Amino acid sequence: MSTAAERDTVAEPQAENSTTNRKQPFPQGFLDTISTGWAERPETLPAARAQAPFAARRRAALSAAFPGKRLVLPAGSLKQRSNDTDYVFRAHSAFAHLTGWASDTEPDSVLVFDPTDDGHAVTLYFRERADRTTTEFYADATVGEFWIGPRPSLAGVAADLAIETAHLADFAPVEGELVLDEDDALTRFVSELRLIKDDYEIAEMRRAVAITAAGFDDILRELPAAIAHSRGERVVEGVFHRRAREDGNGEGYDTIAASGPHACYLHWTRNDGAVLPGDLILVDAGVEADSLYTADITRTIPVSGTFTDVQRKVYETVREAADVAFAAAKVGVRFRDIHAAAMSVIAARTAEWGLLPVSADEALDADRGGQHRRYMVHGTSHHLGIDVHDCAQARREMYYDGILAPGMVFTIEPGLYFQIDDLTVPEELRGIGVRIEDDILMTEDGPVNLSADIPRTADEIEAWIARAQR
Ligand code: GLY
Ligand code: MN
Ligand code: MN
Repeated sequence: MSTAAERDTVAEPQAENSTTNRKQPFPQGFLDTISTGWAERPETLPAARAQAPFAARRRAALSAAFPGKRLVLPAGSLKQRSNDTDYVFRAHSAFAHLTGWASDTEPDSVLVFDPTDDGHAVTLYFRERADRTTTEFYADATVGEFWIGPRPSLAGVAADLAIETAHLADFAPVEGELVLDEDDALTRFVSELRLIKDDYEIAEMRRAVAITAAGFDDILRELPAAIAHSRGERVVEGVFHRRAREDGNGEGYDTIAASGPHACYLHWTRNDGAVLPGDLILVDAGVEADSLYTADITRTIPVSGTFTDVQRKVYETVREAADVAFAAAKVGVRFRDIHAAAMSVIAARTAEWGLLPVSADEALDADRGGQHRRYMVHGTSHHLGIDVHDCAQARREMYYDGILAPGMVFTIEPGLYFQIDDLTVPEELRGIGVRIEDDILMTEDGPVNLSADIPRTADEIEAWIARAQR
């Protein structure tokens, strides 16, 4: 093994360009003294983190599925936002799942499975910290410890994750290896491996939901401030963001704070509108815990504290669809049956209200129907976990056509959206958008609503607002 100092190849910037033209040269006195005068950094190795044994079991399953193959799973790299600023680093979900390294993952790390006689030797390669004798330490704004703070050692990460570690410089690609996101079979396998959550993952989902619930409480308390601001939706977004960053890693996806007719735009993340009394505000937000597991919850709230009759009618219909979908979620039924259950309610009620050009039965016909989908174009459920739309590379027969099993975590999120300019609905409905989204854990005994503590019924929501603003 070479030392970090020997490996260090960071050259002093010479040519003037957009990142060097404002740099001060380092005078000789600085260069002569910068690497000396630093205290030793004795390291106490941590105990393995709680996720380590779970990640080891996942690695064993992957190893068993690809005997004799070298597998390469990169964490990913920093992505440029503009010029010399990057987005916040987020490890690849499959990498996080298989290592247990989460929000603290070092960019550019690579998990490698080398085939052996009886399985695989697994090694986690990452850029070990450079010591104070290197120019990287003080001159590299992307990875230097003077700039970004302490980085972990090989021994520290090995103990923390209970995994073999090696320096990134010692990693080299090998002909014939399977690489995540390049090899379909590998990419599909690690996505399907996440369909059933283990006990650690379920506990983290509960944690993400609990922080999200606190974030919704914060929003209700701050509604008067949102009403008072010309861009009240941003106030709502900001209030949730504060909770997400203080108690978790951040949000699992961009918060949707959609007031009034914006609620009808399914992924309204511009969030630059006003929050007006008399309107509903739809908030779809989820905290990503430090472990990277995320919640995905929507509540639709009357800004002034009480639903109008027509808002309540729409709201309670969406809740009926959610409750019917929840009742349909049983071990052994197909994932897509949850959506079908919700759709039966949406079709029946929109037909009753005279919105459809056909009967509810005709609308539910698989080939010729779908007229009711104008008012809810999205699906009712998706798997949830490290990704908000988890297990996205799973085969259709394992996902949409798959069979519900204990340990699955998914959303139930029906909605009704009457666009402001939709001439097929009476004027009183136009501009009303409602979604109710809960996070569900499938168990042998039936579905468990992990977000049940966040008020759901129209009456509960009104009482919640009154409580929050007392
Ligand atoms: N927040 C995105 C979704 O509900 O799927
Ligand atoms: Mn969702
Ligand atoms: Mn959502």
